[in-house]
Amino acid sequence: MAESMRGLHRTHRCAELSTVNVGETVTIMGWVQKNRNKGGLVFVDVRDRSGIIQVVFEDGSCDADLIARAASLRSEYVVAIVGKVEKRSGAVNQNIATGEIEVIPEQMRILSESETPPFPIEENSKTKEELRLKYRYLDLRRPDLQRNLMMRSKIATLTRQFLAEEGFLEIETPVLGKTTPEGARDYLVPSRIHQGSFYGLPQSPQLYKQLLMCSGYDRYFQIAKCFRDEDLRADRQPEFTQIDMELSFVDEEDVMDVNERLLARLFKEVLDIDVQLPIQRMTWQEAMDRFGSDKPDIRFGMELVNVTEVVRDSEFVVFKDAIENGGTVRGINAKGQGGMPRKKIDKLVSFAKDFGAKGLAYIAIHEDGAVKSSFAKFMTEEETNGLVQAMGGEVGDLLLFAADKNKVVWDVLGNLRLELARQMDLLDKNEYKFLWITEFPLLEWSEEQNRYTAMHHPFTMPMEEDWKYIDTDPGRVRAKAYDITLNGNEIGGGSIRIHQNDIQEKMFEVLGFTKEEAYRQFSFLLDAFKYGVPPHAGLAYGLDRLVMLMAKVDSIRDVMAFPKVKDASCLMTNAPSLADDKQLAELGLELRKEEKSEESPEE
Ligand code: AMO
Ligand code: AMP
Repeated sequence: MAESMRGLHRTHRCAELSTVNVGETVTIMGWVQKNRNKGGLVFVDVRDRSGIIQVVFEDGSCDADLIARAASLRSEYVVAIVGKVEKRSGAVNQNIATGEIEVIPEQMRILSESETPPFPIEENSKTKEELRLKYRYLDLRRPDLQRNLMMRSKIATLTRQFLAEEGFLEIETPVLGKTTPEGARDYLVPSRIHQGSFYGLPQSPQLYKQLLMCSGYDRYFQIAKCFRDEDLRADRQPEFTQIDMELSFVDEEDVMDVNERLLARLFKEVLDIDVQLPIQRMTWQEAMDRFGSDKPDIRFGMELVNVTEVVRDSEFVVFKDAIENGGTVRGINAKGQGGMPRKKIDKLVSFAKDFGAKGLAYIAIHEDGAVKSSFAKFMTEEETNGLVQAMGGEVGDLLLFAADKNKVVWDVLGNLRLELARQMDLLDKNEYKFLWITEFPLLEWSEEQNRYTAMHHPFTMPMEEDWKYIDTDPGRVRAKAYDITLNGNEIGGGSIRIHQNDIQEKMFEVLGFTKEEAYRQFSFLLDAFKYGVPPHAGLAYGLDRLVMLMAKVDSIRDVMAFPKVKDASCLMTNAPSLADDKQLAELGLELRKEEKSEESPEE
């Protein structure tokens, strides 16, 4: 039977106790991690979010009844224990923070009993993620997840403190509102009062924060929930959190400066790491040319080399065709991988094909000097030598080449580079390499939609010197946009905003909106711009991604309390779930009847 905790007050969390408390009578409360019954001597490990403390029930110091009750405890029972802290009589346990002490109990209450949990509550769980997510409330008891969420809380608190010191105001913006186009699909919420109308959940607070600048709040931030209906990945959830900010009367330098200092503060206080300021910058063009990615991992080299000129005159059709079609030939040098077995190379080829490559040409320079190549037979020896030289190829190296349109070549080699780095164990989670990416293209051609789309979002300011190309060669216009990347992850992004109506209207036009459509969707912004708008700019971090990297884990699910799985469902609550007929009727909604297929058996 569960007992009441009346009259008891917790004095310490378990792992807040140390040798300093020896001799004190303390009250701890927590979950039974395990108990070991040695007959007349029972060791009980009690756990709370701070850690574990050992409680020793022993003949002589405890009465028989108390020892018997301790022996009956099972994992995950919730107990309150009043006892005296003593230096351990037995061996010190180096593995836990409280390993030098133990508690000798005077009193114990069982506050709650527990069934046997479906998996052990322990660090580095081997239990399948699906089962853990179903019982997320138990999973969240595990020390590694608790540490991650405590770190997340600390990061949020430090962010608030820092931004407040810098004169930012924390202002909330609506969740039920109009969506902001950030490139993903919207989540819609049906209105009961305005049947047939929908609120859109924000993909970000972008428009609201720009309006706050129009209203004079000059430095805004918010730790904001954002919603995007897009395919899930390890670093993507349908519902995630941004550290979102906007500043008036600033240029790129101001935004970058305050953010570099924010990152430095967070890394110092949370990880005791000194971030070297200023953070390195690279233009988008340079990042693509050197790393095939707009979020390059610069913890290692293996940079792309453009060998188009070297092979321009070769008769190898693969190269020839690519170049004739306006593409390029580029390669990477996987140092020391020349001895890679054929099977493994074939795997790299199919990896490359997953990213759109038609093939992957290679030259392996074996230790004995023999050169194995998938295409040497199509080249003269001179040409092959020239290529090896251009790639800095030495004995023991593996040279890999992709020939195609630039976009494909970058994507293939950029991803291959990362795959090789994983295989070659070049990625150290303790090393943090920040990089700003600047001068993004303003627009990006979408084959799917057969029109230009905004690379960042439609409110991003073009670079003045490129604006003259907006009608003749829109793809050439660069934007005043910047991303902050860390170890190959985009942790944040932002831009200088358009604050002139004529440029904003032109931007909508280039994106394929008629003037009427633009006004229908964004009249509040375009109207606001008529009444005195300060130049403004901002940035937003993916808080989940930042915490993921700081906590050195591989998925943002490990830094979110209740994440969703790949199909955007929650395994614990079973959301999303069916609405009942009454709810649907109130909302004026009717579901399309599933058409029964001919084969489906009669019920
Ligand atoms: P952006 O779309 O680049 O910019 O988003 C900012 C940052 O949010 C994170 N992020 C995500 N994290 C988890 N799951 C997702 N589905 C997801 N999508 C994005 C990324 C990204 O860098 N309003 C602009 C910011 C601005 O211009 O001020 C915006 O939302 O880390
Ligand atoms: P094939 O003549 O098709 O046997 O191709 C010869 C070599 O070129 C093989 O190693 C292919 O994988 C490679 N290859 C084919 N297409 C491409 C491409 N677009 N880029 C790089 N290598 C390619």
